[in-house]
Amino acid sequence: MVEEFILKATGPGMVFSGCGSATPAQVLTNDALSQIVETSDEWIRSRTGIGSRHLLPPDQSLTDLAIAAGKSAIAMAGIESAEIDLVILATSTPDDLFGSASKVAHGLGATRAVGFDLTAACSGFVFAFSVASQFIQAGTYQKVLVIGADALSRWLDWEDRRTCVLFGDGAGAVVCQTSEHQGLVGFELYSDGSRNHCLTLGLSSGRKTLGEGQVDTGKYNTLQMNGREVYRFAVDKVPEVMEKLLYRTETQPEQLDWLVLHQANQRIMDAVAKRLKLDPERVISNLGQYGNTSAASIPIALDEAVRDGKIQPGDLIATAGFGAGLSWGAALIRWGENGWS
Ligand code: UT7
Repeated sequence: MVEEFILKATGPGMVFSGCGSATPAQVLTNDALSQIVETSDEWIRSRTGIGSRHLLPPDQSLTDLAIAAGKSAIAMAGIESAEIDLVILATSTPDDLFGSASKVAHGLGATRAVGFDLTAACSGFVFAFSVASQFIQAGTYQKVLVIGADALSRWLDWEDRRTCVLFGDGAGAVVCQTSEHQGLVGFELYSDGSRNHCLTLGLSSGRKTLGEGQVDTGKYNTLQMNGREVYRFAVDKVPEVMEKLLYRTETQPEQLDWLVLHQANQRIMDAVAKRLKLDPERVISNLGQYGNTSAASIPIALDEAVRDGKIQPGDLIATAGFGAGLSWGAALIRWGENGWS
C-alpha cells in the first residue's frame, strides 16, 4: 500500500483540499503572432503543440492573477482566507523583486498568514508544495496556500521567434492542509547549476563606477534559452525522476490515474507518457490554449481537470516540473481532501 509506506516514512499527512486558476483575458493566437515574428501556426503547433497564449495586459499585475487563483482555491477548499497560515508564491516574475507573496496574502485577506516567494522557474510549483509539506508534516502550519504564477511575456524578446512563441501568462493555486490522510505520496527534487546557462533570465551588465570600484546597475536581460539542450534535458531527466519516484513509493505506472506534467512541449509530454507506457488519454494537456506558463502550468492544468470532473477525489496523479536552474522535480499526489481513505 503506497499510503502506508509514506505515512510511516514522513509522519502526519497533507492533503490537497482545493485548487483554482486565473489567466488574463487577452489571447494571442499563433496566426496573430506570425504577423509579429517570422513564424507560422504550422511550425509552432507541430514543434510544440501550442495554439495560443494568454498575455497579461499592462493594467493587470501578477499579484492580481495570483490573488484570483488563490481565492478560487480557497473557495473550493471551503475555508476562510483568514485561516491560512502560509502563502508560498512560486514565481520567477514577481511584480517586485523583493517578492509579491505578502501582497498576495494581503489581497486575499489572509490576515494571519506569512508569505514568501519561491523561485525555481518552471519547477517552482512542485518545489513549493513540497516545501509546504515540510511545514505541515512538522506540525508548524496547518493550512498553506501554494500558488504558481508567472508572466514571462514581460521578459521575452518579442523579436526572437525561438522563445517568444513558447510562453504565456497565468496563475494556479492549491490549498494544502493537515490531515490524517496522506495526499502527497512522495516527491523528488533536483537541480544542476552546471547547466544553468541553458535557460536564463539574467542580469545584463550596466556598470557604474563608484569611487575606485564598480557596481552593476541592475537591469535584466530577456529570457535566453538553448531549446535543443533543454529539450534533451527534459526527455532525459523527467522520465528518470518519475521512475525513481514510482520505485521509491512502490507504485506501478498502471496505478496512475493521471499524468500532469509541466506544460512546455507536447512532444516532451508524449515522450514521458510513452516511457511510462501510459495511455495518452491519461495525460492532461492544455498547452494548446495557454502555451508554457512556467510555474503556473501544472496548477492551471490540474485545476481545469478537477473542474471538468476528469480528476476525482482519490485519483493518483504523477506530476513533474522542469526548467531553468536547471531544475526538475516530480511528485505523486492522491487528489482531494477526503472520499478516498
Ligand atoms: O519551461 C522551460 C522548459 N523549456 C522547454 O521545455 C523547451 C524545450 N525545447 C523545445 O521545446 C524545442 O527545442 C523548441 C520548441 C524550443 C524548438 O524546437 P526544435 O525542434 O528543437 O527546433 P530548433 O531549435 O532545432 O530549430 C529548428 C529550426 C531552426 O531553423 P534551421 O536552423 O534548421 O534553419 C530554427 O531557426 O526551426 C527554426 N525556428 C523556427 N521557425 C519558425 C526556431 N523557432 C522558430 C519559429 N518559427 N518560432
